[in-house]
Amino acid sequence: MDNNSCFEIAKELMPGGVNSPVRAFKSVGGTPKFIERAKGPLLFDVEGKQYTDYVGSFGPAILGHAHPDVITAITKQAQKGTSFGAPTQAETQLAACIIKQMDAIEMIRFVNSGTEACMSAIRLARAYTKRDYIIKFSGCYHGHADYLLADAGSGLATAKISHSPGVPEAFSKYTLNIPYNDPQALTACLEHYGDQIGAIIFEPICGNMNFIRPQQDFIAALNNAQSNYDCLLICDEVMTGFRVAANGAQSLIGIKPDLTILGKVIGGGLPVGAFGGKKEIMEHLAPQGSVYQAGTLSGNPLAMAAGLTTLEIILKDKDFYQKLEQKTQYLMDQLTIIMHQKDLPFSAVVQGGMFGFAFIDAPPENFTDISKADQTCFNAFFQHMLHHGHYFAPSMFEAGFISCAHTAQDLDKTLADAKKFSS
Ligand SMILES: Cc1ncc(COP(=O)(O)O)c(C=O)c1O
Repeated sequence: MDNNSCFEIAKELMPGGVNSPVRAFKSVGGTPKFIERAKGPLLFDVEGKQYTDYVGSFGPAILGHAHPDVITAITKQAQKGTSFGAPTQAETQLAACIIKQMDAIEMIRFVNSGTEACMSAIRLARAYTKRDYIIKFSGCYHGHADYLLADAGSGLATAKISHSPGVPEAFSKYTLNIPYNDPQALTACLEHYGDQIGAIIFEPICGNMNFIRPQQDFIAALNNAQSNYDCLLICDEVMTGFRVAANGAQSLIGIKPDLTILGKVIGGGLPVGAFGGKKEIMEHLAPQGSVYQAGTLSGNPLAMAAGLTTLEIILKDKDFYQKLEQKTQYLMDQLTIIMHQKDLPFSAVVQGGMFGFAFIDAPPENFTDISKADQTCFNAFFQHMLHHGHYFAPSMFEAGFISCAHTAQDLDKTLADAKKFSS
C-alpha cells in the first residue's frame, strides 16, 4: 500500500491519522510517510523509499535504529516475560547506572513517558515545598498535563495553539509563564510571588522551539532562584538527557537541579520516563512517603533492558559524545555555508547529538525570535530534502537528532542534496 492510501485509512480511524500531532505534517504540508522499518541511520517507508533519519524518533535513537545489542536485550527479556507488576533487578540496574552518571540524581522513579514524569515531579515539588505556584518558560514543552500546556513548545507551537480547549482556566491558575532567556522577567516574577513558588521547570537547552541555548545571565537567575527563594529547580532533560552528555545538559550549563526529568534515550526506543533527584525530596514519594504516584507498566522490563543496553554502549566509549558532536557540528557547519552561499539567512546551533537550524540571521534566544524565522523557506527545504531521501523533523519548532550510526557518507549525501535546494 502507498503512503497516501495508508494515510486515508488512518484518518478515518484516528484523529488526523496519527497518534501524536507533529507526525501529521500539518505545518509543512503533504502526506506523512508511513514507516515500515528502520536500520541504523535509515528509515524505509511502506513504498520502499529510503530516508536518512535526522529525527531519531524525536530523540531516543541515539545508537541508530535496531541496534543489534538492543534488539538482543529486548528479545531475551521478552522470552522471560514482558511485564510482571512486581519489582525486577533490571529496574535497579538502570537506576544504578543513571545515578552513577548524574550528580543531581540520588534516587529515581521510572514511569512510562516524559509527560508522566513532568507531572509527577511537579506534584512532588509542590508537596515538598508546600507551595502551589510553578514557573515555566514559553516555548518549553513538558508534556501534555493540563497545567503545562499554556504557551508550550513542540506540537503546540507548530499548530499555533497557545492554550488547549478542555483545560479549565482554574487548572492553569498556578502556572506562571515567562519568556526563556529573560532573567529580568524571572527575577520580577520571583519578587512578586516570592515564597508561593514551589518550582521552576525548564529545559536546560530547549529542544521544543527549535534548539535554543540558555544565556549566562539566565542561568545565573535560575541558580539565584534556587538559593535565594527556596523554590525547587526541575530540569527537564527528557530530550537532552544522555543525548548531549552523560551528566545531562545541566552539567554543561552549570546548574545542579533539585529534580531532573528523563525519558527518550534511557528507554532505548521503548516507552519510558523517569524523574529523580535529592534523596531528601524523593523519599516523600509513596510508598516511602505520602505523595502518590503509580503505574501498571512503570519500570517495564523491556524498556529497562533496552535502556540499560543503550546506556552501556554509550558509556563504554569515553569519547562517545565528542564524536557524536563532531558529526553534528560538521553537518550544521556545512549546511550553514551552503545556505549562506545561496544568500539565505541561516543559523544553526549544535550540542552533542542534537541540532537546530532556522532560516534566520542569528540563533533564536526565545520563542518570539524563532517565530520570526522564515517558515515558508523551512517548509520548502523540508520538502526538498524529503524528496531526496532525508527525513528532518516536519516543523521548524523541533530540534534535529543524529546517531552514532550516521556515517560521513550519510552526512555528505545529505549536504550534496541540500546544495540543490532553491527557495
Ligand atoms: C523536554 C520534554 N519534556 C517532556 C516531554 C514529553 O515526553 P513524552 O512525549 O514522552 O510524554 C518531551 C517530549 O518531547 C520533551 O521534549
